[in-house]
Amino acid sequence: MKKKLVAGNWKMHGSQLANVDLLSELVHGLASTAPACDVLVCPPAVYVAQVAALLQGSVVQLGAQDVSAQEAGAFTGEVSAAMLADLAVRYAIVGHSERRKYHGETDALVALKAQRVLACGVTPIVCVGETLEEREAGHAFEVVKRQLAAVIHHNKHCVSEVVVAYEPVWAIGTGKTATPEQAQEIHAVLRAQLQAATAHADRVRILYGGSVNAANAAALFALPDVDGALVGGASLKAAEFLSIVAAVQ
Ligand code: PGA
Repeated sequence: MKKKLVAGNWKMHGSQLANVDLLSELVHGLASTAPACDVLVCPPAVYVAQVAALLQGSVVQLGAQDVSAQEAGAFTGEVSAAMLADLAVRYAIVGHSERRKYHGETDALVALKAQRVLACGVTPIVCVGETLEEREAGHAFEVVKRQLAAVIHHNKHCVSEVVVAYEPVWAIGTGKTATPEQAQEIHAVLRAQLQAATAHADRVRILYGGSVNAANAAALFALPDVDGALVGGASLKAAEFLSIVAAVQ
């Protein structure tokens, strides 16, 4: 059975001082009992080096929140996949709905980012998810399938190496979580789509994200196709994040 993954997406939060506090609590909390899952934190790019140093020798892994679709060159402000790999970053979130919404990222761009990341030996966490309007119009399946199809089309059999995160846009930062039924239904659709694309679909971890917290994590992790969580707000509080990790049996 594949190990679940609990990933914290810090978004644009933190400071050198706050990062030290949060990580020391987290590392200390995980030191006594080995977690039953992989644990990951994704700080803002500017803190990746600091967090890499703070996580030396701990079980907590390091991820990035985004990556450039370009390999290298005159792209002011961008961070390449090779640079992330250079800092021992293991995962990079691509296609988060906030990137799609505020930075106009398209399915094709997200697919290219996933490819760049894979080429550098880093695992992309590909986010998909429908808006409330799309769900109410009955288009949730169609939207997530379209978003994942671009990644499959572009990366072919390498798609077995990605992590997928289903994050319904209406559940992100809103305190509204998808019900276990809603989550499982979409996860099963994504799993079937992966199965049609690769013989190794069962090794792909499909995370749920959107207002995951200590109270709802266990019910989500009990679902057959939920292989972990991508956690935003609750990943900034060490005790809460530790409770989510502990909810993995
Ligand atoms: P949230 O964010 O847990 O604060 O809803 C999740 C995400 O955007 O990854």
